[in-house]
Amino acid sequence: MDLMPSLKGQRVLITGGLGFIGSNLVHKCLELGAEVTIYDCLDPRSGGNMYNVQGIKNSVGIILNDIRNFEGVCAAILNKDVLFNCAAYTSHPNSMKEPLIDIDVNCKGVINILEAARRFNPHIKIVQVGTTTQIGRMQFSPIDETHPEFPVDIYSANKSASEKYVLIYGSAYRMRTTVVRLANVFGPRSNIRSADFGFMNYFVGIGLRGKDLTVYGDGAQLRNINYVEDAIAALILASQADKSDGEVFFAVADKEYAVSEIAEAISRNIGGRVRYVEWPKDREMIEIGHAVISNKKTKAVLNWAPQTDLTAGLIKTKDYFAPCLGQYLG
Ligand SMILES: NC(=O)c1ccc[n+]([C@@H]2O[C@H](COP(=O)([O-])OP(=O)(O)OC[C@H]3O[C@@H](n4cnc5c(N)ncnc54)[C@H](O)[C@@H]3O)[C@@H](O)[C@H]2O)c1
Repeated sequence: MDLMPSLKGQRVLITGGLGFIGSNLVHKCLELGAEVTIYDCLDPRSGGNMYNVQGIKNSVGIILNDIRNFEGVCAAILNKDVLFNCAAYTSHPNSMKEPLIDIDVNCKGVINILEAARRFNPHIKIVQVGTTTQIGRMQFSPIDETHPEFPVDIYSANKSASEKYVLIYGSAYRMRTTVVRLANVFGPRSNIRSADFGFMNYFVGIGLRGKDLTVYGDGAQLRNINYVEDAIAALILASQADKSDGEVFFAVADKEYAVSEIAEAISRNIGGRVRYVEWPKDREMIEIGHAVISNKKTKAVLNWAPQTDLTAGLIKTKDYFAPCLGQYLG
């Protein structure tokens, strides 16, 4: 992978910048020289956390507002060069319980961003964060960017729809838009409080407290993962490459792991004991089986390569959380 590009002189807007992925992006963009503005409503159901910008609060602009507020988005988008949209209603099970909220944030919120850009800043580069769960059940292996999408939960369906909005604005209005789909991102500043936001970071939280890591079934289903620094490197590279316009990318690690392997690795490197139990009905309903995804296109087009493997990533994650656990579990 090339060295990360300098962002000196670039004005970057990060919606959802107080959450897990957004805040790691904020730290990195600052380090690379960008002028950064965060736009986030600190949704209490999300991973949004003021502690995520501890130490850099005075170096960034923070707008506490909702992407569903069109005027707010219009004002924030003015004079920006790049927008990373990391704001989302991010829970698969909650999207089944509250589908209308999910549509509101994940579809209407994205349209607000696109309309604001089209009307007031059509030259901005927009990087939308997508999710590999848009694919649903794997029809061929490895999954690549041509794989059909049949999502099995409302969140994934709405993320799929919003990705299409982003691409439509790119093609219809010749705007510079791109999508990077992520999978099971783990690392510092993640939402380790609740199982509702993906199993991996929740397991990290359980491991940090030395409790039982509960795996449903035999945990044999394969999952793609990515350490957060690698995920945000892909987002930044996509934001700087003209050839990413109109394209979709998968940014996942080189190797996929069984859920049981991930749990065992967390137990070994962070803490906790792995316990196997029967599938709860509501989880089994939205389970997708194996997922094996290719990152070939992302490597070729963006000159990106994951740098941190599972063990190294878990050790870095433990080192980050150990002194500030109360800020994330309180
Ligand atoms: N974490 C993962 O493993 C993963 C995997 C695939 C895709 N993604 C995608 O990455 C993006 C970021 O996810 P994350 O894991 O950082 O989640 P997160 O919950 O930690 O962060 C989401 C942020 O968005 C903010 N937000 C929510 N609704 C908002 C609204 N209406 N207006 C303004 N801000 C709002 C929240 O306050 C929070 O700070 C999402 O688009 C998600 O779909 C994440």
